[in-house]
Amino acid sequence: MTTKATRAVGVDIGGTGIKAALVELEDGSLLSERVKVATPTGAEPDDVLAAVKTVLGTLGVTDADIPLGVAFPAIVKHGRTLSAANVADTWVGFEAEKFFEDGLGREIHFANDADVAGVAEARYGAARGVEGLVLLTTLGTGIGTALLHNGVLIPNSELGHLQRANKSTDFERWAAYSAVEREQLSWPEWSKRLQKYYDHLEFVLSPDLFIVGGGVSKHADEFLPLLSLNTPIVPAVHRNNAGIIGAAALALAHDDSSTVSEAESSLVTETD
Ligand code: BGC
Repeated sequence: MTTKATRAVGVDIGGTGIKAALVELEDGSLLSERVKVATPTGAEPDDVLAAVKTVLGTLGVTDADIPLGVAFPAIVKHGRTLSAANVADTWVGFEAEKFFEDGLGREIHFANDADVAGVAEARYGAARGVEGLVLLTTLGTGIGTALLHNGVLIPNSELGHLQRANKSTDFERWAAYSAVEREQLSWPEWSKRLQKYYDHLEFVLSPDLFIVGGGVSKHADEFLPLLSLNTPIVPAVHRNNAGIIGAAALALAHDDSSTVSEAESSLVTETD
C-alpha cells in the first residue's frame, strides 16, 4: 500500500525577504511558523542559497522526503532564470533549479513567485472556482503577475514590466509598493498610480477578477476602496503567504516521490 504526502515546504524568495513554512496541502494552511530572513544584499546565487539553507534549517525541514518548492522573482523556464529585475544579473540565463538542487542535495520544484501565488489563490483562495480570466498582481519590491484562465496558469506573464506610455520607466518602478517607500507616497497618491496601472490592465486583458497580493495586501482597506474599476478587485485570501503556499503546492504536484511508503514518513496520510 502506498500513501501520498499531503505536506510540503514552500520557500518564497523575494527581492527583500526570503520566507518559508511547512504547508498542509489539503487546505493550504501553514503547519509551522513562518520563517523569514532578509534577502542578502546584491542577491547573488551563493548568498541566496545560503539564506535558503538558513530558513530550512530554522524550520527543521532539511529532510529530503518532504517535497520542497522554491519560488523566485524572475522569469523561470525549464528551471532556468531568464530575468533579474530585483536580484543580481548573474541570474539571467542561470540554471537556477539545478543550482538549488545541487546546493541543497535534493530535488526541488522551482517557479516564478507571482505564478505560485496565483496557483495558491486558485487552489485555496480568492480565485478558487472563478471562471474566465483572473489576474493576480503582487505589489511588493516589484510587481509580479499571475494569469489564470479557468484556473489554469499561463506562466511568466511579467505584466509589471509593461511600459508606461511616453515614459522611461515601467509600471513596476512607478507603482510597486517599493515606490511608496522610496517616495513616501500617501495611500491616495499611490492609489492614483494603481488606478492607471489597473485601468491599463483592464483595457488590454478584460479580466474577470483582479487579486492583489504581496505584503501590502494586509492593508487592502487603505487603497482598494480608492480604486474605480469595472473589474472586481479583492485582496489575496492568503495575503503574503500565497507564495509560500503555492510553492509548496507545486512541489507536490511535480514531486515523483510524493507517493511514499507508509513507513517512510510520519508526514503522510492515506490516499483515497
Ligand atoms: C519580476 C517578476 C516577479 C516580480 C515580483 C518582477 O520584477 O520581473 O518575475 O514576479 O518582480 O517579485
